[in-house]
Amino acid sequence: MTGAQETIDRILARGGSDEDVLQAVVDALHDRVDHYSWVGIYLVDGDELVLGPWKGPEETEHVRIPVGQGVCGAAAATGETEIVDDVNADPRYLACFASTRSEIVVPIAHEGAVVGEIDIDSDQPAAFGDDDRAMLEGVATMVSAAAAGSGMGL
Ligand code: SME
Repeated sequence: MTGAQETIDRILARGGSDEDVLQAVVDALHDRVDHYSWVGIYLVDGDELVLGPWKGPEETEHVRIPVGQGVCGAAAATGETEIVDDVNADPRYLACFASTRSEIVVPIAHEGAVVGEIDIDSDQPAAFGDDDRAMLEGVATMVSAAAAGSGMGL
């Protein structure tokens, strides 16, 4: 997403609740990047991830994921970004949508702890590269206070 930092800056400057901020960030990512088919933010709740704001064609059945399970749970457990080029070849993958081919999960850390993560599914294989990782890790840093304070799942 070109101008990601400016877009997120504008969303943060507008204010509103932490939930509103996170939803606006999800909407911007979904609407402005063609290969982002489904975008969601999970928030840490004890030893589980609970789904917060999301945007995409369908809801997911995975509204709670134990830390350590799935690609989402792996990223939360390690605090490291996960990129899966072919979800059907990754045994950790928890299927949500038949159309998904690849996935990126970017942890959101606040004061040294993982408080949530950005999860994006793409209908294109190997859709996520270094540009996506760098941009989304920047977004994760910018929204960390909102994720920590959103009260959704914390
Ligand atoms: N695929 C994820 C589950 C979340 S859905 O993609 C929205 C996983 O393997 O953890």
